[in-house]
Amino acid sequence: MTRIGIAGLGSIGRRHAAAAVRAGHEVVAFDPAPAGGGDPWVAVASFGALLDSAPTALVVATPDALHAQQAVAALERGIPVLVEKPLAASLDEALAIAAAARRSGTPALVGYVLRYNAALSAAARVLARGELGELVSFHVQLGAYETLVRAHSRFDGPAVRGGLYGDYSHEWDYVRWLLGPIVRGLAAERTVRGLERVQAPNVVSGLLELAGGLVGTYHLDYVTDPPQRALTVLGAAARLEVDVPAATLRLFPRGIPEADARVTRFAQPRDDTFDAQLAHMLDVARGEAQPRASVADGVRALAVAIGLRDAAASRAWVDFEDDERNHQMKSRLQHTERSV
Ligand SMILES: NC(=O)c1ccc[n+]([C@@H]2O[C@H](COP(=O)([O-])OP(=O)(O)OC[C@H]3O[C@@H](n4cnc5c(N)ncnc54)[C@H](O)[C@@H]3O)[C@@H](O)[C@H]2O)c1
Repeated sequence: MTRIGIAGLGSIGRRHAAAAVRAGHEVVAFDPAPAGGGDPWVAVASFGALLDSAPTALVVATPDALHAQQAVAALERGIPVLVEKPLAASLDEALAIAAAARRSGTPALVGYVLRYNAALSAAARVLARGELGELVSFHVQLGAYETLVRAHSRFDGPAVRGGLYGDYSHEWDYVRWLLGPIVRGLAAERTVRGLERVQAPNVVSGLLELAGGLVGTYHLDYVTDPPQRALTVLGAAARLEVDVPAATLRLFPRGIPEADARVTRFAQPRDDTFDAQLAHMLDVARGEAQPRASVADGVRALAVAIGLRDAAASRAWVDFEDDERNHQMKSRLQHTERSV
C-alpha cells in the first residue's frame, strides 16, 4: 500500500492531497489550522505523528519558512520528500535540505510542477533539436493577480519583501531547464496601487544573462487578471512562443508568413500536471527515477530569486558566477550534486 503524507493543507497542499486520492493512495495529513472538513484523508494532530505514520513519501506544502525544518526531519528518518517551491526561505536553509538528503541517502525533489507541463516540455524538445537555429533572445512573462486571491492566507500577514521573486521561481527553474544556467541578472521593481490586494513590490522587470551569453528579458507581476504565463524564444531560424494557460506552442519559421505558423494545442487540465508530479515523486521515492527537479535545481532557482531581489535593491547587475556568496553556494552545491 502506498501512503502519501501531506504537511500543510492550504491552497497547494489540498491539490497534492486530491492528486493522491485520485491515484488511489492512502493520504495522511497534518495542518494545525485545517479548513473545512469531511475530507477523504486521515488528519493527524502533529507533524511528529505525520512522520510516525511512515508515509511512502511526504509532500511539504507549508509556508516557505517551515520547508527546511520539516524536510530535514523527514529525510533524517529516511522518508522521501517533495518540497514545494521555493525550496526554502534562505540559501542556508536550502543547503541544509541538500545536506540532509546527502547524509541520509534519501530521495528529495522540488515542486516545480511546470516541469510536467506539456507545452513547455514540447518547447524543451524543439530547443534540444536546435530547430530555432542560433538563439537571439528570449522573454519570460508572468502575471497573476489570482495568486494573491487564491493563496490569501500566505498574503494576509505583513508583506514579505520580494516575495514575487521566490513565488514565481518557477520561471527561473524553467529558464534554466530549457535554456541553460542563469549567470547574472538585473531587476527593477515597483508597486502598482489601486487594487484590492497589493503586495509591495507587485511588479518586477529585468534582464537575465545565461551561460554562453544569451540575454533575455522577464516581467513578473501580481496585477494581471486573468493570469498570463508565456515564454518567447527568438532564434535566427525560427521564433517559439509558449502560452501556458492556453496550452499552446507556436513555431514561426523565419521567412514564412505568421499565418502559416505551426500551432500545437495541448489538452492538459492543470490537475494532470499534479498527477504526473505525484507519480514521478513515487518513482523517485522507490529509486526508479532521478528527480526532474532536484534539490540542486531548487537551490539554483532560489539563488536566482534572492540574487534578483538584491539586484533590485542595488539597481545593479548581480553576478551569480562571481559573487562571493554564490561562490560559497556553488562549491557546497557541487559537493551535494554528486550524490543528490
Ligand atoms: N507549485 C506551485 O505551483 C505552488 C502554488 C502555490 C503555492 N506553492 C508553495 O506551497 C507552499 C504553501 O503555499 P500555499 O499557497 O498552499 O499556502 P497556504 O497559506 O494556503 O497554506 C499553507 C498551510 O500550511 C499550514 N501550516 C502552517 N504551519 C504548519 C505546520 N507546522 N505543519 C503543517 N501545516 C502548517 C497552514 O495552516 C496552511 O493551511 C509555499 O511554499 C508556496 O510557495 C506552490
